[in-house]
Amino acid sequence: MEENLKVFSGNANLELAKEICDVLQITLGKAFVGRFSDGEIQIKIEENVRGCDVFIVQSTFPPAENLFELLLMIDAVRRSSAKRITAVIPYYGYARQDKKDKPRVPISAKVIANLLESSGADRILTIDLHVEQIQGFFDIPVDHLYAAPVFIEHLQDFERKDLVVVSPDPGRVNRARAMAKRLGNLPIAIIDKRRPSPNIAEVMNVVGEVKGKNSLIIDDIVDSGGTIIGASEALKREGALKITACCTHPLLSGNASEKLQESKIEEMIVTNTISIHPEKRNAFLQVLTISNLLGEAIHRIHTEQSVSTLFV
Ligand code: R5P
Repeated sequence: MEENLKVFSGNANLELAKEICDVLQITLGKAFVGRFSDGEIQIKIEENVRGCDVFIVQSTFPPAENLFELLLMIDAVRRSSAKRITAVIPYYGYARQDKKDKPRVPISAKVIANLLESSGADRILTIDLHVEQIQGFFDIPVDHLYAAPVFIEHLQDFERKDLVVVSPDPGRVNRARAMAKRLGNLPIAIIDKRRPSPNIAEVMNVVGEVKGKNSLIIDDIVDSGGTIIGASEALKREGALKITACCTHPLLSGNASEKLQESKIEEMIVTNTISIHPEKRNAFLQVLTISNLLGEAIHRIHTEQSVSTLFV
């Protein structure tokens, strides 16, 4: 039992928050996270948090209500005199607009960082940010974990002979390389992807040797599924054999679940940073839990120990 440690949750990841509490051997903090009759969010923290080290678990995937619940919970806890507030954001949404690379676009990742800080968050704990530079959008400490150890543990008995790790776009090469190294210095391949418009992914070329090999695609997000389905088709055209995909954050918008099941991908592994709607769950999707990783990180932050051993 950790002293003065409290974990609360909004509605986005309630199951995950309970799992994290099981890891920490504490009970989830009592909070009312409901709605007024017009739909406005209403929050009430229902236990004393004065002087406590408070962690609020909430991913910020759509709807924006998830983000708003988190901001209001932080505000409520701050006004209740908590000693320190950590926003535990397994999936940091609004991260895909991270720079002004076209005229008249926002940097939404920075807007969210500003909102979290001004609400009263003292620290951020998150997993597989879309780009690592988002850490610098905050002036408070950010502990950025990787889901890679969770995937690697799951893949312990995975056949590694003739396996190539594939980055589905040039932006993810570093993560693919790190994964390939951890899996035993495997070769990597890179998909040269273009996005002619949002949510449309067009594969141009496959860079690297994939013919006659099994492929393991590594990505942070699976949203429409277009990126990894396009990658799998390109890999097949180049003569790849079995294709497996590991994606940390399963947004799975629209009919992505069905499209993936019908695609050339034979195994699809995701984590529970985002709770998958029951209608989108199917036997094809293997969901790994990140509760141990987050539970360990929370324990270490609370006891002022290094969390760097968890950054791999
Ligand atoms: C892009 O840079 C990301 O890493 C993902 O590849 C992308 O967000 C996945 O989106 P979708 O599944 O819609 O192609």
